[in-house]
Amino acid sequence: MEFLIIFFHCLLLTTGYLCVQGSSHHRHQHHFHDSRQVYGFRPTKLFVFGDSYADTGNIRKSFADSWKEPYGSTFPGKPAGRFSDGRILTDYLAKFLGLKSPVTYTWMNLGKQKWLNGMNFAYGGSGVFNTFGDLLPNMSTQIDFFEKLMNDSVYTKWDLQSSAVLVSLTGNDYGTYLANGGAFQGLASFISKVINQLEVNLKRVRRLGARKIVVTSLPPLGCLPRSTETSSFKKCNITENIAVSYHNLLLQQAVAKLNNKTGNSTISIVDLFRSFTTVIEQKQDYLGNLKFETPLKPCCIGKSDGYFCGSVDDKGAKMYTLCHDPKSVFFWDSSHPTEAGWQAMFTTLKPSFDRILKYQ
Ligand SMILES: *[C@@H]1O[C@H](CO)[C@@H](O)[C@H](O)[C@H]1NC(C)=O
Ligand SMILES: *[C@@H]1O[C@H](CO)[C@@H](O)[C@H](O)[C@H]1NC(C)=O
Ligand SMILES: *[C@@H]1O[C@H](CO)[C@@H](O)[C@H](O)[C@H]1NC(C)=O
Ligand SMILES: *[C@@H]1O[C@H](CO)[C@@H](O)[C@H](O)[C@H]1NC(C)=O
Ligand SMILES: *[C@@H]1O[C@H](CO)[C@@H](O)[C@H](O)[C@H]1NC(C)=O
Repeated sequence: MEFLIIFFHCLLLTTGYLCVQGSSHHRHQHHFHDSRQVYGFRPTKLFVFGDSYADTGNIRKSFADSWKEPYGSTFPGKPAGRFSDGRILTDYLAKFLGLKSPVTYTWMNLGKQKWLNGMNFAYGGSGVFNTFGDLLPNMSTQIDFFEKLMNDSVYTKWDLQSSAVLVSLTGNDYGTYLANGGAFQGLASFISKVINQLEVNLKRVRRLGARKIVVTSLPPLGCLPRSTETSSFKKCNITENIAVSYHNLLLQQAVAKLNNKTGNSTISIVDLFRSFTTVIEQKQDYLGNLKFETPLKPCCIGKSDGYFCGSVDDKGAKMYTLCHDPKSVFFWDSSHPTEAGWQAMFTTLKPSFDRILKYQ
């Protein structure tokens, strides 16, 4: 552990990243890697791969809390598979692009009309590698699903060329690694493996025709309620955030390398690390009002060990507590932001999306 920390510190120091960790000072990194000049671009569709920060209902009902009350209570008003009380990153990005939130792959048989806005292949809990055995499609399998639809002429290469692609990879591989007894010392090399696989996946999406790909950086995982619970939701876990910064550094390098080699496709980073830390520090909602007074404390909390947001006991009694007003809380459950949280973060991301997706 000691070694790991020193190792990370050195790396981070040589690249000027050190001050990020758990403090309010961090280098203002250019959060979108915009290495080449791109033509004005208005995506006609949005395709989405990844995990719960982007899943709008793919994950099976029997399998996930996201299909239980009180998930979805703000939007759409009942549980619908989103890991939040309401809208999430995918929804805000789609709206920004002037599109409806793309239909989920699982529910694509709701009608062809729904395919026009693109499709969402993201599954909560997934990673680039298998996370819960093979219960969930990893990102490669999600891309297989898409490729199959292209093979079946549901979508064409042109559809993809004229679309935006969102790739959300926010840490399930690491949760699985640690849960399976992976040593923290070995984490650095596992992080490289994850980034290498992500690179393979991004290349594949690009080969299928994607011209505009945005990929998330890791959020500050050490600030998620599941990590701050031990400090009564007051202090971020700095060790975890250092590991996160290492992932994000390798991601930047991988993306720079990928962009260096291509004609006219770009991969950009959606800097979730920065948008999380900005909103958590400023505590402001999307209108700039001071709202999130205890920004690390989630709205929906399991009543005791073994119970989570959405848990009920044998008799159906709620085994979680719920905040009074999700609009004034940043985190929804132990790992996911509220709709208000996502909306505030999207405000911080908007200028970059503007630059990347619309104009330049
Ligand atoms: C993704 O899942 C499939 C099916 O379980 C598996 O065969 C494949 O090896 C996985 N891919 C990676 C990169 O782990
Ligand atoms: C799609 O078609 C290509 C070319 O025939 C084939 O190599 C690939 O395996 C197919 N992919 C899927 C997921 O069916
Ligand atoms: C921070 O996270 C690491 C890795 O998950 C864990 O080993 C450590 O106990 C945590 N530290 C605190 C103060 O909770
Ligand atoms: C980009 O490519 C050029 C020439 O091929 C090379 O000199 C440069 O180091 C590359 N940059 C990155 C970030 O890979
Ligand atoms: C750039 O994109 C255009 C239109 O999508 C395509 O015709 C052209 O071949 C691409 N150029 C390169 C170098 O990839």
